[in-house]
Amino acid sequence: MGMSMSFHVVLLVSLVLAVLIQAQDQSGFISIDCGAPDVNYTESTTGINYTSDANFINTGVSRIIASELKNGYQKQAWYVRSFPEGVRNCYKINITRGSTYLIRASFLYGNYDGLNMLPQFDLLLGANRWATVTIYNASLDQFNEIIHVPSLDSVQLCLVNTGHGTPFISAVELRTLKNDTYVTRFGSLETYNRWDLGSNQAYRYNYDVYDRAWFTYGNNNDWTQLNVSISVDSLSQSDFKPPAIVMSTAVTPVNASAPLVISWEPQDQTELYYVYMHFTEVEVLEKNQTREFNINQNGKPWYQNLSPRYQKADTIYSGIGTSGEKIKYSLEMTENSNLPPIINAIEIYRLKDFQQSDTYQGDVDVITTIKSVYKVTRDWQGDPCGPVAYLWHGLNCTYAANQSPRITTLNLSSSGLLGKIDPSISKLAMLEKLDLSNNSLNGEVPDFLSQLQHLKILNLEKNNLSGSIPSTLVEKSKEGSLSLSVGQNSFLCESDQCNEKQKEKKKNNIVTPLVASVSGVVILLVVMAAILWTLKRRKSKASMVEKDQSQISPQYTEQDDSLLQFKKQIYSFSDVLKITNNFNTTLGKGGFGTVYLGHINDTPVAVKMLSPSSVHGYQQFQAEVKLLMRVHHKNLTSLVGYCNEGTSKGLIYEYMANGNLLEHLSGKHGKTKFFTWEERLRIAVDAALGLEYLQNGCKPPIIHRDVKSTNILLNELFQAKLSDFGLSKVIPTEGVTHVSTVVAGTPGYLDPEYFITNRLTEKSDVYSFGVVLLEIITSQPVIARNQENIHISEWVSSLIMKGDIKAIVDSRLEGAYDTNSVWKAVEIATACVSPNLNKRPITSVIVVELKESLAMELARTKNRGTNTRDSVTSVTMNLNTEFIPQAR
Ligand SMILES: *[C@@H]1O[C@H](CO)[C@@H](O)[C@H](O)[C@H]1NC(C)=O
Ligand SMILES: *[C@@H]1O[C@H](CO)[C@@H](O)[C@H](O)[C@H]1NC(C)=O
Ligand SMILES: *[C@@H]1O[C@H](CO)[C@@H](O)[C@H](O)[C@H]1NC(C)=O
Ligand SMILES: *[C@@H]1O[C@H](CO)[C@@H](O)[C@H](O)[C@H]1NC(C)=O
Ligand SMILES: *[C@@H]1O[C@H](CO)[C@@H](O)[C@H](O)[C@H]1NC(C)=O
Ligand SMILES: *[C@@H]1O[C@H](CO)[C@@H](O)[C@H](O)[C@H]1NC(C)=O
Ligand SMILES: *[C@@H]1O[C@H](CO)[C@@H](O)[C@H](O)[C@H]1NC(C)=O
Ligand SMILES: *[C@@H]1O[C@H](CO)[C@@H](O)[C@H](O)[C@H]1NC(C)=O
Ligand SMILES: *[C@@H]1O[C@H](CO)[C@@H](O)[C@H](O)[C@H]1NC(C)=O
Repeated sequence: MGMSMSFHVVLLVSLVLAVLIQAQDQSGFISIDCGAPDVNYTESTTGINYTSDANFINTGVSRIIASELKNGYQKQAWYVRSFPEGVRNCYKINITRGSTYLIRASFLYGNYDGLNMLPQFDLLLGANRWATVTIYNASLDQFNEIIHVPSLDSVQLCLVNTGHGTPFISAVELRTLKNDTYVTRFGSLETYNRWDLGSNQAYRYNYDVYDRAWFTYGNNNDWTQLNVSISVDSLSQSDFKPPAIVMSTAVTPVNASAPLVISWEPQDQTELYYVYMHFTEVEVLEKNQTREFNINQNGKPWYQNLSPRYQKADTIYSGIGTSGEKIKYSLEMTENSNLPPIINAIEIYRLKDFQQSDTYQGDVDVITTIKSVYKVTRDWQGDPCGPVAYLWHGLNCTYAANQSPRITTLNLSSSGLLGKIDPSISKLAMLEKLDLSNNSLNGEVPDFLSQLQHLKILNLEKNNLSGSIPSTLVEKSKEGSLSLSVGQNSFLCESDQCNEKQKEKKKNNIVTPLVASVSGVVILLVVMAAILWTLKRRKSKASMVEKDQSQISPQYTEQDDSLLQFKKQIYSFSDVLKITNNFNTTLGKGGFGTVYLGHINDTPVAVKMLSPSSVHGYQQFQAEVKLLMRVHHKNLTSLVGYCNEGTSKGLIYEYMANGNLLEHLSGKHGKTKFFTWEERLRIAVDAALGLEYLQNGCKPPIIHRDVKSTNILLNELFQAKLSDFGLSKVIPTEGVTHVSTVVAGTPGYLDPEYFITNRLTEKSDVYSFGVVLLEIITSQPVIARNQENIHISEWVSSLIMKGDIKAIVDSRLEGAYDTNSVWKAVEIATACVSPNLNKRPITSVIVVELKESLAMELARTKNRGTNTRDSVTSVTMNLNTEFIPQAR
């Protein structure tokens, strides 16, 4: 019945649209006419104010399309910017990070180069490949569009020459959308289609306040077109604000008793589609008339008993995407209805889960400074580290999952650099290798280079550097932690010798160049200093501890007992080295750093060394530690002490012998334990108690921000304790420019509401806890590792609808559980993961409910032998709205 559509050509449609009615607010619009010679102009049909791209890009050339085509197109399509040079050319556009943007890139080839060769090239959004743009027809415009929440203060839109013709672009348009519309759990929404059903004309701004473009569907013999006049004001209540003119037309099945079907076949079955259907009643219904219908998605109920309201817009959508060989929505009238279903408009989006985080903002800022200070002429555009295939020449970066890449190598050798060594380099905190050799750098070797904690290779050979080499660098090189090369700099000297040299210089007026590279010096000095060194080191170790304590003590008075104790728990970095046996055994790695096994007087401890990037100020670290020292609860891992020496910041925790919860649930590693239902509930109660204490027992309350099964640790008795609490508070997440939001949670556990408010609350922890609870119940991965990437809550909800508890609970339990107890746990978990903050229970309620669930199970194990498995129906299920599409 339904028309099946297969889109090989996505959005091959013209943006030549209807005429202007009246001016409307364009705040939140960025409209760039690429290649345009005019600075600013107002496009006459839409009234959109375009600006030229001069402020957004420095490369490429302006070209004009074939003149015979100009008539058919709006002005922004007349000029293009073409990129005959360089592989990657990028637009950099300032935006408000965390806001939701509709981003559209338009392309009209128009044979601007006279070659009549249709190009194909790649389009990047920040560090990710967004799409391959294939130009299908020289005289048609086409566009790529995405709804995206940028994580940085600017968006970089890059065109990449992939060897199939010269990239070009006609226009870039950004529109700010309302934050709480088009929300997904993760990823961005690429426009697949947006149809104004029943209409014969396309519309965009200023019919649509957000400048979404609505297109006609084309002929479908199964449908009848309907229309009505709708006032603009009557729809303004809707969050999605579908344009009145779009809502004034609708379609209905020709055969009144047949369903209205919309379906399509994705090219790729793993793609997740998000659908937004817009409805309004187009007829004035008589008293005896009812229009009511159900919407089925791939044969399953999706939304029930919808009666569109007259002159009001209702949008039906689901916060969860769908995938499959064929996606089919079927609108079927209910038994109460005597009118066929209608639909006014539909939007279909495809999820784009950009995997590569943008490079750490701090590093981006530094490398941008370096690029401009030294006028680097290399093809340095777009995100420095991503995509990996387009890594900036001369850089190397770290690529850890879910973390912003950091720059580890900067190689600017033989780049004609002039002037001094720029201080900004010292802010590349993760730099391991710096090569500035064979340039014309002058001035001194700055001391700030010694601030680079991770620097292993420093090559300054063949420059015009002068003065003395900072002693800290020389020491590091003697120690063997730094390979330092400074040869062939005419005026450099090693620090101790400088005075001598300068005297000599005065006396003889001759400069003695230090010819040897310091690797040579090293060999020499290592021998000389070997004995002295050992002695010196012992001394400095002692003095460091002293210094550290004296730094802290002024803040606290001696009377404060807890703080006296606090002082005792300070460990110097050399203590930490001893405790961990030089970081010999790694227990794990997290977003904040690496955890090592250690021993204090034979008692095992876990030492978490924070990566320098995750700790900012000394003061704040100290304040957090002070707080953590005061938090004591049997379900929280306790802090034994800490280390705070320069950027070496570490936390020492009690050691949890049985690792983390996930290891056991997944049963992946060798010595894991299989938990009974009772044991699972005990662990859940323990973890809930820990969370409850953080929220209610601590003043101010602590938001964990990273509750997940790997942060629930088990001691030798398999008692569960929450770990990593409070530490996450050390990490700034809001309003701080140098920390990417990615750090603030783990995909799959991260509250989707976070995307809306950009603010983590206690209820965000409740969401994450709900996900953990689902893991405990099901032993399933949080995001299915099959092609569909289904989230655990989505998977569970589909089974709840079928009432199939057996399929939900870990099958390895083989029915050894009280069914009511399991239902109760499922109910708690689904409430916790509700998209609506207010529907999520508070932690104290979670504790009570979980204890009840445990009591039910205990009753079963007590009466073992009597059959209690058949009582499925006695618990009423509160189906969570999460799993039911929402109407607005
Ligand atoms: C567009 O620009 C014109 C002049 O350049 C200005 O008068 C008008 O107010 C602008 N319109 C909007 C909606 O910003
Ligand atoms: C062009 O428009 C921008 C943004 O509306 C404005 O800041 C700028 O002053 C305008 N330039 C000219 C020359 O009108
Ligand atoms: C973008 O923001 C940066 C930093 O705030 C500023 O230096 C730059 O001039 C802005 N660019 C444009 C085109 O407004
Ligand atoms: C949307 O999010 C941005 C960034 O967090 C915020 O500045 C803005 O106020 C939000 N807008 C609304 C309408 O909530
Ligand atoms: C390109 O589009 C135009 C306008 O729709 C059409 O007339 C022409 O046949 C198309 N060219 C090709 C090669 O498909
Ligand atoms: C709406 O319906 C009326 C009457 O059937 C018709 O005259 C008019 O052209 C229609 N308008 C649209 C936009 O289809
Ligand atoms: C109308 O649809 C109903 C239900 O699908 C079907 O039974 C009937 O044959 C259809 N009538 C016509 C004329 O196609
Ligand atoms: C509804 O009532 C009208 C008279 O008010 C009548 O003409 C019509 O047939 C009725 N329709 C139905 C479906 O009962
Ligand atoms: C970048 O670093 C990685 C890991 O350290 C290494 O494998 C790779 O070879 C490096 N790439 C370049 C271009 O140096």
